Amino acid sequence: MEKNPSYKRKKTSRPKKAVSPRRNVLRKPHHKVPFPKPGNMVYPAPAVLVTCMDPVTREPNVFTAGWAANVCTNPPMVSVSIRKERYSYDMIRKSGEFTINLTTKDLARAADYCGVRSGRTTNKFQDMGLTIDPGLSIQAPSIRESPVSIECRVSQIIPLGSHDMFLGEVQAVLVDEHYMDEKETFHLEDADLLSYVHGNYYTLGKNVGHFGWSIRKKK
Ligand SMILES: Cc1cc2nc3c(=O)[nH]c(=O)nc-3n(C[C@H](O)[C@H](O)[C@H](O)COP(=O)(O)O)c2cc1C
Repeated sequence: MEKNPSYKRKKTSRPKKAVSPRRNVLRKPHHKVPFPKPGNMVYPAPAVLVTCMDPVTREPNVFTAGWAANVCTNPPMVSVSIRKERYSYDMIRKSGEFTINLTTKDLARAADYCGVRSGRTTNKFQDMGLTIDPGLSIQAPSIRESPVSIECRVSQIIPLGSHDMFLGEVQAVLVDEHYMDEKETFHLEDADLLSYVHGNYYTLGKNVGHFGWSIRKKK
């Protein structure tokens, strides 16, 4: 991995004063009422761009997925739930491969567009000016403009109902060296990652803590 000596951390990425781990910041709870239509409500969800390739014609395609997640640490595995009617569905089922490309504020428009237009009728890479990079460990391509591309081989397809869940074993992860400092620390927090919340796209807000911070000992 090439280091990036010119990497400059954004001043805004970590506030000097995070919320104190000892301060109780819980507001007085309100009364909860049942939501009129119970459904998917685990938010924020990612809004990733999933790339794939037809194994016969070698035509690449891309679509947006909100139902994508990490599912296992060792072996590293992810899941993407896909409706059968998606053009990408058969490409991924037949090739047994897909790549999850994380999205950023700059990719927000592409993330929406690739989720409302089908590769059956248009070339979404061209339409959105996305650069296709060849896969490193698999045939499926990745998107150069994405800060992280996760190459996966399908290990299982689980029919669930509207969606089939594709479990993928991670083969390689490609990261934008721009966010890598000279100590090989990857500053993904500076990439302006995109999330999807109940019909809207957001970038991340303020950093309010870090792993294990709630039980940190006072120095
Ligand atoms: C924010 C967002 C999230 C989406 N998440 C999913 C998803 O998880 N699974 C899915 O099958 N379709 C999802 N879609 C819809 C597909 O991206 C959309 O139908 C797309 O046009 C399929 O492209 P294709 O026909 O070229 O494969 C989502 C769309 C948007 C806008």
